[in-house]
Amino acid sequence: MNEEKRATFGGRISAVLVAAGSAVGLGNIWRFPYLAGENGGGAFLVIYLAAVLLIGLPLMISEFSLGTATRHNAVGAFRALNKRWAVVGYMGILSSALILSFYLVVAGWTAEYMVHSVTSDLVRNTDPASHVAAFEQFVGHPWKPVIYALLFSLATHLIIVLGVQKGIERASKVMMPVLLLVLVVLAVNSMLMPGGMEGLKFFLNPDFSKVTAETILLAVGQAFFSLSIGLGTMITYASYFKQGTSVQGTALQVTLLDTFVAVMAGLVIFPAVFSAGIEPGSGPSLVFITLPSIFSTLPMSGFWSTIFFLLLVLAALTSTISLHESVTAYVEEEWKMSRQKAARLTTLLTGLLAVMASLSLGIWKEYTICGLTFFDSLDYLTANILLPLGAFLTCLFVGWKFDRTLFAQQLYPNGIMGREYPILRFMIRYICPIILFVIFADNLGLI
Ligand code: PFF
Repeated sequence: MNEEKRATFGGRISAVLVAAGSAVGLGNIWRFPYLAGENGGGAFLVIYLAAVLLIGLPLMISEFSLGTATRHNAVGAFRALNKRWAVVGYMGILSSALILSFYLVVAGWTAEYMVHSVTSDLVRNTDPASHVAAFEQFVGHPWKPVIYALLFSLATHLIIVLGVQKGIERASKVMMPVLLLVLVVLAVNSMLMPGGMEGLKFFLNPDFSKVTAETILLAVGQAFFSLSIGLGTMITYASYFKQGTSVQGTALQVTLLDTFVAVMAGLVIFPAVFSAGIEPGSGPSLVFITLPSIFSTLPMSGFWSTIFFLLLVLAALTSTISLHESVTAYVEEEWKMSRQKAARLTTLLTGLLAVMASLSLGIWKEYTICGLTFFDSLDYLTANILLPLGAFLTCLFVGWKFDRTLFAQQLYPNGIMGREYPILRFMIRYICPIILFVIFADNLGLI
């Protein structure tokens, strides 16, 4: 279609890096450990892994194929194929904007922790209670977390207006390998901490007795959140893939990388949680309490802490960029605005919501929606309702409405069908939508 004008990423490695840049982020290092900690550790991990493999991977392939087939943003892609299904694209854009809004808040916390690693003695204190107090004090502060969230929003904005290729590609290329390396080093260190084995058991030994329908929904929602699927971000990114980029190969590598980072994060966090006597069900504060505890036991604690939070900031940034890009590309292409204007509008709207989300954990704590703060409502609505619903509809669309020849062409541009094709198609047409439907129905108490 309008391929000539659209920017493209440099090739296979770049495609993997930018898509992985979107996938790997706070979802892996902040959200995954705290959900696993709250929901039975090993059992959550097993359900999560099953969700990634059974639904996540086929769905990422589906989204990529929509992007490469149409070369459009999420709404444009569905509309180009079937007007009535554009609503799935709209839902995705809404999800992207809402996720970006609360994600900026947590990203701001990581930036604050990075700054404090350099300037204060936060990580030199070995008492976990002091880390809990420090976290609560910061998050509830009337303006500091707001400033950090806004600075993060500004950084994302600047990279977005610099353009797709230069900004996003460069950022992803440098960060990923260093992040992997540091995670491995920290995981080994955590496992060697006194009492660390207890944590390892908690994380790797599944106890299914506490698993409920809600746990399964949380694990599936987390799989989508972590892989950046169910909201069209991967459609938008795939629309920038160079001709001939392997759809399944890229999806497989991104999924493996993302899962590896989540599992490593668990291996870093849980041994340390048990070693320091921290409550695994501490919720969103878990990593922000545990990480400084780990660093405080290391020689050159400030150095390790600075490096780690810097990497976390960068990982968060490549994810906020993808969320922002997905909204900006929609506004730019569908509302026929300049890229600059589209980006500005996205930044203003999500920045405003981010301020509200941040305040909802501090001075606006009393204002709740169904018992949840505004921050928690954004998180719950997106990860546990909008993403699974978007994923369900995307499976139905790709499985039943998307022209099967066009789909096969995206997967096998040279015309030679792979042996996995029938399995993949079966998964997308039947297994994924049925599992998602059952999970929903079960959570709504219908079965
Ligand atoms: N996958 C990102 C993470 O795990 O941090 C978060 C995210 C990015 C979700 C982009 C959705 C998305 F479209």
